[in-house]
Amino acid sequence: MKTSTKTATPDSQTTNDSVPRRRAAKSTAKPESEPESERGSERQARILVLGGTGKTGGRVAARLARRGLPIRAVSRSSHPAFDWDDPTTWPAALDAVTAVYIAYAPDLAIPGATETIGRFVQQAARQGARRLVLLSGRGEAEAQRCERLVQDSGLDWTVVRASWFSQNFSEGEFLDMVLAGQISLPAGDIKEPFVDLDDLADVVVAALTEAGHAGQVYEVTGPRLLSFAEAAAEIARASGRPVEYHQISQQAFLAGVAQSGAPDNLAWLLDYLFSTVLDGRNAQLCDGVQRALGRAPTDFATYASRAARSGVWQAPA
Ligand SMILES: NC(=O)c1ccc[n+]([C@@H]2O[C@H](COP(=O)([O-])OP(=O)(O)OC[C@H]3O[C@@H](n4cnc5c(N)ncnc54)[C@H](OP(=O)(O)O)[C@@H]3O)[C@@H](O)[C@H]2O)c1
Repeated sequence: MKTSTKTATPDSQTTNDSVPRRRAAKSTAKPESEPESERGSERQARILVLGGTGKTGGRVAARLARRGLPIRAVSRSSHPAFDWDDPTTWPAALDAVTAVYIAYAPDLAIPGATETIGRFVQQAARQGARRLVLLSGRGEAEAQRCERLVQDSGLDWTVVRASWFSQNFSEGEFLDMVLAGQISLPAGDIKEPFVDLDDLADVVVAALTEAGHAGQVYEVTGPRLLSFAEAAAEIARASGRPVEYHQISQQAFLAGVAQSGAPDNLAWLLDYLFSTVLDGRNAQLCDGVQRALGRAPTDFATYASRAARSGVWQAPA
């Protein structure tokens, strides 16, 4: 999912610069999307990771591969390719699969996602999958409808219902704004408990590989509520760069989205996320990481320090 790649400037309010980039982010954690073992043993039972090049799928695939578990990490660019919009690509991806990590793209709230998830779940069951782990979003009625389809599948299921990702600032939609020093959004002072994706991936891997997680809805959040201004301050502190939050109106935000040439479904999604989902409904902490892993979630300051050390926020040459 891509929007303009234009870089933000501090003064812009209605340009592309205010548009968060819902790009098909490539995770810094290298996915093992085509393990050698895939070719030699076509029928070996394996774990299917959807969105295998994405921020969460990449991390999940890398963790499973490090454990030596047989995986198949797929997306539109893998071999075999998997495309949510082309069900003829699904059977090859699901061949000899025991468990599936379902990360839908671009978002479960998009019109049509529920039907697609329902169809995919039926196909997975028909082909013999026994365990489904669904990545879902908090406070989205449409996502909760998709959760119910997975819960009613007759298969073992786990739902990982996530707050907004910390890594949106370093690997996703908000990275360019961070690099430009100004995060321009219509977020107001609503607080969000940003979740670290390394925690989320650990929860997903536990649910895919361990007993005891079937039938659980893990609502995963970070341990602290932050406004976007507070998140910007943490990033500035960790990176040593000036990064500020700049409030813009929803109207200016949407004008920027339109100006960026974003596709209709992306424009719809961004409007929905900032006007509806980010209204305070998710401004509470949840214990999904603690319940699934028996440890506390990672604080945003720790995430920011790690991201700064990775060099992702260094000024482009
Ligand atoms: N960002 C947040 O704060 C947040 C919070 C809660 C939940 N979520 C959920 O997280 C999910 C996205 O996961 P993510 O962040 O790990 O992904 P991501 O980094 O946005 O990457 C998208 C992944 O999906 C693949 N993809 C894109 N279009 C596809 C298609 N039509 N068919 C098959 N694969 C496709 C991409 O690879 P190719 O381009 O190679 O196909 C890539 O692997 C969404 O369902 C979203 O609702 C996000």
